[in-house]
Amino acid sequence: MSFLSSKIEAFGMDFSESSLKIAFLRPKGRRLSLVCFSETEVPPGVITGGEVQDEKQLAQVIRKAVANLRGKGLRTKYVVSSLPEEKSFLDVLSLPALYGRELESAIIFETENHIPVPLANVYFDFEKKEIMNGASKHQEVMIVATPKKVVDLYLSAIKLAGLFPVAMEIESLAVARALVKCREDSAPLLIVDFGENRTSFIIYAGQMIRFTSTFPISSRQITEAIANYLKIPIAEAGQLKRSEGLDGSDKLLRAVTPILNELVTQVKSHLEYFYSRDKNVPSSKVKVAELLLCGGGANLRGLVDFIAKGLDTKVDLGNPWVNILSYPLKEVPILSFSDSLKYTTALGLALRGACSETEK
Ligand SMILES: Nc1ncnc2c1ncn2[C@@H]1O[C@H](COP(=O)(O)OP(=O)(O)OP(=O)(O)O)[C@@H](O)[C@H]1O
Ligand SMILES: [Mg+2]
Repeated sequence: MSFLSSKIEAFGMDFSESSLKIAFLRPKGRRLSLVCFSETEVPPGVITGGEVQDEKQLAQVIRKAVANLRGKGLRTKYVVSSLPEEKSFLDVLSLPALYGRELESAIIFETENHIPVPLANVYFDFEKKEIMNGASKHQEVMIVATPKKVVDLYLSAIKLAGLFPVAMEIESLAVARALVKCREDSAPLLIVDFGENRTSFIIYAGQMIRFTSTFPISSRQITEAIANYLKIPIAEAGQLKRSEGLDGSDKLLRAVTPILNELVTQVKSHLEYFYSRDKNVPSSKVKVAELLLCGGGANLRGLVDFIAKGLDTKVDLGNPWVNILSYPLKEVPILSFSDSLKYTTALGLALRGACSETEK
């Protein structure tokens, strides 16, 4: 599902405000293998709030990212790239069992009521699933939309860098593709992507994303809280965050507890909001059984336990290799498990690029 489509081998490219990550997967035997990857810094101000501010500078960052790959060479100029969650809309409609033009008209009509901007100003796409309830049948349709002005600037930067965009999709779709095991009807899941700049909240149930949101609690705030509390430079605080975590130091735990409490509060209130809405979408009425954490910030030692205590839910780190490697592998020699968590979105996009002939 995306705003462009392709049957061409492509690599994945994940844009964030502070970094650009690339991952390229190719078939090897009956499985996929990681050919190359890179993480490149995005200078402040090039992307803010999910919007490209300087497409020429972003094109330079893309070129640098392609030039600095680890692993073997990138054999394709085709790319599947991410669109910012915070600028996109995602919703699930419940519709009668309609087909063809009738279904399209119903989706367009309903989408206009569900997104707060005119349809003419967005690129939008949908994915449907038929639901049998006894003898009656209805459809659940996930709609996603991103303003054209947001998408067009990413497109322009990608083209300026000499690459060919073949698909673009919002981050949550890529994250779910990476973390939710294919062909398993998993129990309802909450995925929390804890990144450098923000937290993404994704509910996945009944083989579909049901709800997404983002809030501005971030791993950067954890570093800043450590720096302020211990009165040390940011770089040193970042080092301590990575080496000690919550387990290693009472001081660190005290420094970051207010932010992590706020993270737990936000997750709880988003869950409550989700449970209270959309009574007309039957499979939204699900209780989340497990929380999976991803994003680089998920590596903070002690975070899983902290959140599990606060939410009283099973919490685990996600495995972004679950649909790439044989179970129970969680890393490859050139990319450790902890670094892999940062690449969850990029690997989800790369999976799409490598499996473009199959259902996404
Ligand atoms: N071992 C670790 N312990 C704690 N934090 C870590 C560890 N390793 C990386 N991080 C943090 O992960 C963050 C980067 O995560 P990630 O790459 O997922 O963010 P991003 O995708 O660039 O940003 P976002 O998605 O929020 O826009 C940084 O704040 C970094 O300090
Ligand atoms: Mg990210």
